[in-house]
Amino acid sequence: MFDSNRPGGSSQKRGVPLISMRNIHKSFGSVHALRGASIDVHAGEIVALVGDNGAGKSTLVKVMSGVHGYDTGDYEFEGKQTKINSPSDASAYGIQTVYQDLSLCNNLDAVQNLFLGRELTGPGWFGRRIKRAECEVRAREVMTRMRLGNLSLSRPVGAMSGGQRQNIAIARSILWTPKVVILDEPTAALSHSAAEQVSTLVRTLANEGLGIVIVSHDIHHFVVNATDRIEVMRLGANVASFKSSEVTGEQVVNAMVGGNENVNLAG
Ligand SMILES: Nc1ncnc2c1ncn2[C@@H]1O[C@H](COP(=O)(O)OP(=O)(O)OP(=O)(O)O)[C@@H](O)[C@H]1O
Ligand SMILES: [Mg+2]
Repeated sequence: MFDSNRPGGSSQKRGVPLISMRNIHKSFGSVHALRGASIDVHAGEIVALVGDNGAGKSTLVKVMSGVHGYDTGDYEFEGKQTKINSPSDASAYGIQTVYQDLSLCNNLDAVQNLFLGRELTGPGWFGRRIKRAECEVRAREVMTRMRLGNLSLSRPVGAMSGGQRQNIAIARSILWTPKVVILDEPTAALSHSAAEQVSTLVRTLANEGLGIVIVSHDIHHFVVNATDRIEVMRLGANVASFKSSEVTGEQVVNAMVGGNENVNLAG
């Protein structure tokens, strides 16, 4: 059960991970934010990234999604060295990120939000009119696939609940069939039942073969119940890995704050 040789790693039996980051270092001036951080993300798996404030979680996912570069380390996608220098590079690899502010426009409806900035348009000489009908069909397909078929596509998203808005932001990320979706604090502002809906949704996506990375402080509910594996970071490095089904919230919190150095129970 104890294996500190592969920090951030997971079972060796499951083939090549979608994402494998090893020994990533990243400094912002004099702040050494990542000090050898590692993480694997496999297809069909929900990985929680947890740690105290300032542990380096957001920095690691921003490196993963091309927002930040890194100083040293290895970042492979499907077993090959990546060349990710921007969010659009990450997008081209099939990595989509849902940020905590969701980046939705409250006065627009779900269809408009799903296609914001990348509307389906006709040929240039035809005035590049937005093909609303096609957007609606595509939006409906995605919502049905995500089992969100009864969410209104025509109400302004500002009139929707936090959970519905979160689900639309996730739907937006999967419009272009990514392989990995990264969620930063998806349940932070949600009620228990809305958080349950988000758990159901991410499980649906994982069951379709996506790899999911979730940064969360909701250890006792969301992290231990809705994810498969938990990576604990402290001071820019991994300090523990757990299989979510084999750990209590208390054990995870203990690893976050200290003790249990380099525990890997993730098998
Ligand atoms: N753009 C930046 N410029 C300078 N320092 C930064 C920057 N981003 C992060 N840091 C620093 O890097 C360290 C890690 O920050 P990071 O945001 O990754 O932590 P976190 O684990 O996401 O914390 P939280 O749970 O509070 O969101 C902190 O010391 C932070 O102040
Ligand atoms: Mg953060």
